[in-house]
Amino acid sequence: MTDRSEPVKLNDGQVMPRIGYGTYKVGDDEAQEAVEAALATGYRLVDTAEMYGNEVGVGRAVNGSGVPREEVFLTTKVWNDHHGADAARAALEASLERLGTDYLDLYLIHWPSPKQGLYVETFEALLKARDEGLIRSAGVSNFLPEHLEKVHEGTGVWPAVNQVELHPYFNQPALRAWQAERGIATESWGPLGQRTGSVLGEEAVTAAAAAHGRSPGQVVIRWHLQNGCIVIPKSSKASRIAENFDVFDFELTEGEMAAIDALESGERQGIDPGGSER
Ligand SMILES: NC(=O)c1ccc[n+]([C@@H]2O[C@H](COP(=O)([O-])OP(=O)(O)OC[C@H]3O[C@@H](n4cnc5c(N)ncnc54)[C@H](OP(=O)(O)O)[C@@H]3O)[C@@H](O)[C@H]2O)c1
Repeated sequence: MTDRSEPVKLNDGQVMPRIGYGTYKVGDDEAQEAVEAALATGYRLVDTAEMYGNEVGVGRAVNGSGVPREEVFLTTKVWNDHHGADAARAALEASLERLGTDYLDLYLIHWPSPKQGLYVETFEALLKARDEGLIRSAGVSNFLPEHLEKVHEGTGVWPAVNQVELHPYFNQPALRAWQAERGIATESWGPLGQRTGSVLGEEAVTAAAAAHGRSPGQVVIRWHLQNGCIVIPKSSKASRIAENFDVFDFELTEGEMAAIDALESGERQGIDPGGSER
């Protein structure tokens, strides 16, 4: 069986776990308990953002879990109202303070926000913070190839990671291949496609689940891993937090992968990063 549990080597030499715990819509009051449950389960990647409003709770869990800080890969993101060199630096310092840590494993620009036109300058601020040891890796989220190209032209660096909407209804094969050629790791957000609520009921998913004696959620997480993506499912329920991590002892067949690939609709459920909304 292919071992999909090994960490991903990023283009800057850091290593990142393949599966993590996502915390969007996990309130600050519930974040500590949820992240502690994830860490106790074995997750070593935790994904938050200043926009989620839960960095205090996430930090309490990371610092109080008993898992050594250096074993946890902690990601947060700079929000759209903190683009630009000085604002991004201030946002980073505020996130570090809320998280109760002196470094991040990965800091992401949450959206390119092209109407502001500041994402290259913002990425330069991340690289400076990396040189100073405040962050280990500099990455982005929701960037299209045109945004990544501009970052590369302006800084000479490809971001280590691009975290993008990716699930069976919008599986982004062209972007994944383009990023792989440039050494940019692809991280899937909204991996269970739960905004429409129907991915897990699709025949391609439920048939594979029945064949392997697994849940539909486990099948979809496995599909991400076998596609080479880093995946960060969110659940507020301890039983699902454990279920979503228990995906390393079965493998989908080529036929099962192809049937799930065929669910592609070509349509985003989230915002278009090239549009004017963000
Ligand atoms: N960069 C960005 O712009 C961006 C945008 C969105 C998300 N993200 C990140 O990506 C993470 C994941 O995305 P997401 O939270 O939007 O969506 P998701 O992980 O695809 O789906 C979460 C939903 O699925 C349910 N769920 C979880 N495990 C399940 C299972 N095994 N079976 C059935 N239902 C299950 C959860 O319900 P319960 O909680 O009730 O279990 C929740 O409603 C976020 O938490 C965040 O860290 C990033």
